[in-house]
Amino acid sequence: MKVLVVESNPKAISLLSSALRAEFNADVHTEKHGVPGTAYISENPLLDLVVVRNINASPTNNAEETAKVILNFIYDNELKCKVLVLGEFEAAGFEFAHIPDRFKVSEFTTIVRKTLGISLEDLKEIRQGDYIPIEIQNFYVMNKAPCDTYIKLARATGDQYVKRIHSGDEFDKEGIKKYESQGVTELYVPKDQKNLFLEAQLKQYLVSITDNSKPEPVLVELRSDAYDINQTLIKNTGITEQMILMSQASVKAMVASVAHNKKLGSLLKNILNNKGSFAYKHSYLISVFASACMHKMEWSEDKQLEANIERMTFAAFFHDILLIEEVHIKIRNKVDLYQAKLEGKEKELVLEHANKMASLVHEMKFAPRGAEQIIREHHGARNGIGYSEVYSSNLGAMSIMFIVIEDFVSSLLDFKENKLSIKEIIEVMGERYPLPSYKKVIKALTESLSESF
Ligand SMILES: [Fe+2]
Ligand SMILES: [Fe+2]
Repeated sequence: MKVLVVESNPKAISLLSSALRAEFNADVHTEKHGVPGTAYISENPLLDLVVVRNINASPTNNAEETAKVILNFIYDNELKCKVLVLGEFEAAGFEFAHIPDRFKVSEFTTIVRKTLGISLEDLKEIRQGDYIPIEIQNFYVMNKAPCDTYIKLARATGDQYVKRIHSGDEFDKEGIKKYESQGVTELYVPKDQKNLFLEAQLKQYLVSITDNSKPEPVLVELRSDAYDINQTLIKNTGITEQMILMSQASVKAMVASVAHNKKLGSLLKNILNNKGSFAYKHSYLISVFASACMHKMEWSEDKQLEANIERMTFAAFFHDILLIEEVHIKIRNKVDLYQAKLEGKEKELVLEHANKMASLVHEMKFAPRGAEQIIREHHGARNGIGYSEVYSSNLGAMSIMFIVIEDFVSSLLDFKENKLSIKEIIEVMGERYPLPSYKKVIKALTESLSESF
């Protein structure tokens, strides 16, 4: 962003220039008077904004109506750059923004932003300067740098970017982890390479995730990393194209791995013993057991089997993705919630995560039909808010299935703490759910388990 400041007071010049640089990363040029100001304007046709004092003391000691000189010049030459006048000023027929003499820096920057039509979202990007930060976990699912990649060093003279990975260089997760162990949390790419980077990330991830020659533990870890990346994407940018494409690929890979009748026992062993976040394991195991039970449910016809598995897997992938903390995912009822002693925004998010995520899924055009309802009802409340004390039969059949299976998976993952065998977990669940619609899922689950262990 290019800005000209026409102002003769040295204090004001320094204040305005530093505000423009800090807030907008602007390239600021200053002139003290109208005529040299107009000369600069004519030499710089790409100027975005002129900030001009209404009246400046002129070299000949007569007051100069600087703003008028500048506005006349812009008008006569039909230039597009915007003008912001400092101090009282009126000029009929001209278009300009205006701020009174005494103003706070924050008022000045707000009016500059509005004059230039910059949204707060744009401002974030502008402030980042020539390099944009990429959270380091994004590199886990990649193996080749699509562009030069830098680390940032904070120096007294300002930030310094040092190239660490050259465009085209190959790397692996271990190499990236080394940077992390040195305290690096973000790597930087040139701003104009951001899209190139995102495209490459998606492409490389897709190639890896569909590479069946990779051993299962590697794939589990890869899917888990992708889950974490998706979680950050949703948190930071909401539903964007990148997030949609990444998550679509992840859900597809999960469906492929659960649907192709592998033995439950080995799937379970794989996931429990492998690297991967708790959040991912929790989601993945729900889809594993949902898929195993699905064809035993009377409402799930064979010809819909694959679609149903996709629905459940999609719901499993997204249902808790807004919860960043493991302890929040583990909350299953009002007692857990009370014991977690949450407050404020944190508590609100936990209470409303089902509803919030369901609303986001509503916006995703590719979401399988019905997934939204499963996500909304996965804690037993039809509106997706809070945790139900009693599980009613007033929920969708798939929601009921999800609730029972999630309960089972939570106990499995809690294995170390409660030391219950699978048989004991099922027994406890039998007492917890008296209604027939829930009992049917427990029965299907028991059957699947007995077939595969
Ligand atoms: Fe969950
Ligand atoms: Fe949840």
